[in-house]
Amino acid sequence: MTLSSNMLGLRTMLIEFDSSDTIEGVIRTVTTTSEHFGEDFQPQVRPADPRFGDFQANGVLPFAKKAGINPRELAQKLMDALPQTDLWETSIAGPGFINFKLSPSYFLQWLEKFADTESIQKAVQTENPQKVVVDFSGPNTAKQMHVGHIRSTIIGESLARLLHFLGHEVIRDNHLGDWGTQFGILLYAIKREKIALDQLGPDPIAKLENLYRQGNKWIKEEECNLAEAREELVKLQNGDSENLALWQKIKEISMDSFLSIYEILGVHFDHSLGESFYKDKIDPIYENLLSHQICKEDEGALVVFHPEHKRFSKQPFIIRKSDGASNYATTDLATVEYRKNEWNSDQIIYVTDGRQRDHFEQLFLTVQKWYSAEKRKSPSLEHVWFGTILGDDNKAIKTRDGEPIKLIDLLNEAISRARKMVIEKKPDLAEVEIEKRAKAIGLGAVRYADLSQDRTLDYVFSWEKMLAMQGNTAPYLQYAVARIHSIFRKAQVLPTQILSTHYQPNTDSERSLARKFLFFPGVIKQTTKELKPHFLGCYLFELATEFSSFYNQSKVMVEEEEIKTLRLILCARSLIILQIGMDILGIETLEEM
Ligand code: ARG
Repeated sequence: MTLSSNMLGLRTMLIEFDSSDTIEGVIRTVTTTSEHFGEDFQPQVRPADPRFGDFQANGVLPFAKKAGINPRELAQKLMDALPQTDLWETSIAGPGFINFKLSPSYFLQWLEKFADTESIQKAVQTENPQKVVVDFSGPNTAKQMHVGHIRSTIIGESLARLLHFLGHEVIRDNHLGDWGTQFGILLYAIKREKIALDQLGPDPIAKLENLYRQGNKWIKEEECNLAEAREELVKLQNGDSENLALWQKIKEISMDSFLSIYEILGVHFDHSLGESFYKDKIDPIYENLLSHQICKEDEGALVVFHPEHKRFSKQPFIIRKSDGASNYATTDLATVEYRKNEWNSDQIIYVTDGRQRDHFEQLFLTVQKWYSAEKRKSPSLEHVWFGTILGDDNKAIKTRDGEPIKLIDLLNEAISRARKMVIEKKPDLAEVEIEKRAKAIGLGAVRYADLSQDRTLDYVFSWEKMLAMQGNTAPYLQYAVARIHSIFRKAQVLPTQILSTHYQPNTDSERSLARKFLFFPGVIKQTTKELKPHFLGCYLFELATEFSSFYNQSKVMVEEEEIKTLRLILCARSLIILQIGMDILGIETLEEM
């Protein structure tokens, strides 16, 4: 077996952030030129059971099995070929896994190299930056945002932050539902009630919602009312100036109410191009799809069948209704086209409820066929869907009288519950400080309750659970951060100050905390690959727990300067990673709690 690795090259590789990659790199340098392994060999480096090591290379077993070689012997060959280093020890486990136990000096070098947010960010940033549209929130105008919209807003915001952190160019687009049949009913009700839209009182959006409800009742009562509502819609769609002005005003009122929620949540958009923006961009879509024979007329409607697909071969994608009107599918097709042509986007991520899975699957299939017929590269399309928020009764969450819960009420309740917690703990805190903490804790709790679960699952909304100081909650993470700040206050050192020591992580608790840091890039990778923030959330919870057991076992303010410094460094790195992660999830951190 030849040993072609360059020891100097290896040394720098070894301190790179993601040590799973570096161990992988070392193994590859040895195996690619080896007669026993060759280029195809996959080292498969993973975090190991901490009793045996820090990382484990699992690739020998499947490789040996396929080649009909004894895996333990092959593992021994690989181990013998690895370069001598004082950065780790290796051992063979089970039928042929190789364990790597990192040495204290490895950890110390790592801690020194990754001393601030920038160096950590640089280590995880992408080599292939993409232009990514994140399409999220997307409430419908003339209605208040209900609790149903919170998941898209929270998950979308977090994914946008994550991708931005990784170095992608992110475009945040709020695809408002601002064009559709609801306006016929609403315009009809406004006119019948003779309401002036600038005199709707203190809560105009609630008033509009009531008008819509009233209109709905009327059209169900009598045929002729329905006809009138339809007439209003046709007028609007044909550009009637009175109806257009009313529609514009409704949109403004709605937008104001959405903006107040986005402001509370700290969410922003680069664009809010709703469905109405595309209303004059749909004719070319029909023409294009017809000319490529991707769609066809069916009972007066224009539809796309996907014969190769089990369900969609019988259930077509309707892109023009039989009355000639465009729909959600049409505007979504025009939206893809716009985002590709105008923004040159590489990827589009749609964050919506799981009930829209069929819609997006059909949309994506249609786009694929359309772009490939035109030999154009389509943006890669991703539907990030989520489950329902449930009440105590395991049904979609509602108010006591069966109405959907208004998002604004929910956020206000979160803040007011957190305010009580803050005051209980520190009754004489200044008012501004109470408000700041209440907001951070209350909103953090609501966000994290959502982001700490696999998004595809439904979850039960529980104030007690999400606001608990113990367990996988935002207050628990925020408390860990505040505790680290208080350690630095006591030490009279700033957490950002660069410290240096000769004392290497030796004790179990020092080692196991330092080890946890090394898994951060892998977690970021997985979160990005699956677009599931709970991977990051769960890691942060584990890190906070690890920190807490380190702190219970290892006194920081010890006499020996070198040991104290190492422990402060461990606290500082825990803080940086917690802050980076919580910021990606949109959870504010506090210096005191
Ligand atoms: N307005 C839609 C809804 O309330 C969400 C929009 C999602 N984005 C899209 N391009 N279809 O469900």
